[in-house]
Amino acid sequence: MSFDVGAVRGQFPILSEIIDGKPVHYLDNGASAQTPIAVLDAVRTYETTGRANVLRGVHRLAERATDAYEHARVEVATFLGVAPMEIVFTGGCTAAINLVAYSYGALLKPGDRILLSELEHHSNIVPWQLLRSRAGIEIDMIPVTVDGRIDLKKLPSLLTSRTKLISLAHVSNVTGAMVDVGAVVAAAKSVGAKVMLDGAQRAPHGPIDLPSLGVDFYVFAGHKAYGPNGIGVLWAKAELLDAMPPFMGGGSMIGRVTFAETTWAPPPRRFEAGTPPIGPAIGLGAACKWMRALDWMGAHAHEMTMVQHLMDGLQKIDGARLFGPAGLQNRYPVVSFLLDGVHPHDVAQTLDSFGVAVRAGHHCAQPLMDRFDLDGTTRVSMAPYNDGGDIDALLTGVRHAARTLR
Ligand SMILES: Cc1ncc(COP(=O)(O)O)c(C=O)c1O
Repeated sequence: MSFDVGAVRGQFPILSEIIDGKPVHYLDNGASAQTPIAVLDAVRTYETTGRANVLRGVHRLAERATDAYEHARVEVATFLGVAPMEIVFTGGCTAAINLVAYSYGALLKPGDRILLSELEHHSNIVPWQLLRSRAGIEIDMIPVTVDGRIDLKKLPSLLTSRTKLISLAHVSNVTGAMVDVGAVVAAAKSVGAKVMLDGAQRAPHGPIDLPSLGVDFYVFAGHKAYGPNGIGVLWAKAELLDAMPPFMGGGSMIGRVTFAETTWAPPPRRFEAGTPPIGPAIGLGAACKWMRALDWMGAHAHEMTMVQHLMDGLQKIDGARLFGPAGLQNRYPVVSFLLDGVHPHDVAQTLDSFGVAVRAGHHCAQPLMDRFDLDGTTRVSMAPYNDGGDIDALLTGVRHAARTLR
């Protein structure tokens, strides 16, 4: 049976909104995706029938809230194929990377090296720069190829016996390119380095089997994966979490507190200081369950059909240039393009007047923009609920921009 995009769209109320007389053509999913009814219902159920703090009260509502919160951890763990106790809820993807940079970073020594790539989001660059100032570590950088992929041919020459961690975007938020994880893990193993993947742009496209990937840390954000804002995930192997000191101190993350000394709770609580984002975590659990139920073979084929349709359409527009991989291999449905002589913000503004939402600018990847001497790009990022009508509306808008702004 072919992928029923209409049935998926029907689960996202916002897609049938008319705003200023125009339908919603939402193609900014890489910034934040939309939320299905299943997620909205899960949050509403917590707020209306089980709202209380977690992990501390003995009353029935507190127990209900704690059960729902811990069940969400199980849903996220199942989505990633890992153990629930290895899932740490954080405030977002950025917060998760900062946690690793701080807590895993505390185990590093001056002169140890972290290897990143030129296409990383700022949230996988700046936390390491902060660690560099704090702890004297060094940062190395894998360049990108002309088609916007991490250039793994350069990887062996950048690895040293001091390289402790390779931290890369699983999928680029600018070019949609997916990194060859197997090659990275094999290279990391040859020098005893750990691997972290920033899954912000990969997690919204279906379950991930982390044990088969062989990485050590994985992070993603709830709001890009059809869940609420204010929630993210860090997964790390149990032995790594066990070895890591806390990131933040406060309630819930302790064993015993005295003024002389405090002991830490075991993971994941060690890394969840204070009242966690309970409703958002429950919503993310529901989003992971929703994603597991989707036909991803069909959804991925549908997404790639849209990517091809978009690339074919853009190639016919005078002055439009694709930025990123030209084909469909090892990529996800994120497509960046330029319109010669027109600033990406002006393209995005014109598209908005056609009811089409995209992102324009540097996409929090300024080093990548610098490498190609660009101010920015216009980025189209798709989800399974998008359809050919969204792409057609976008192409109509780009043709209009090409005619009127150049
Ligand atoms: C690849 C990548 N990493 C990290 C982030 C940061 O995510 P958040 O802002 O949810 O913390 C983003 C957000 O755009 C992203 O695309």
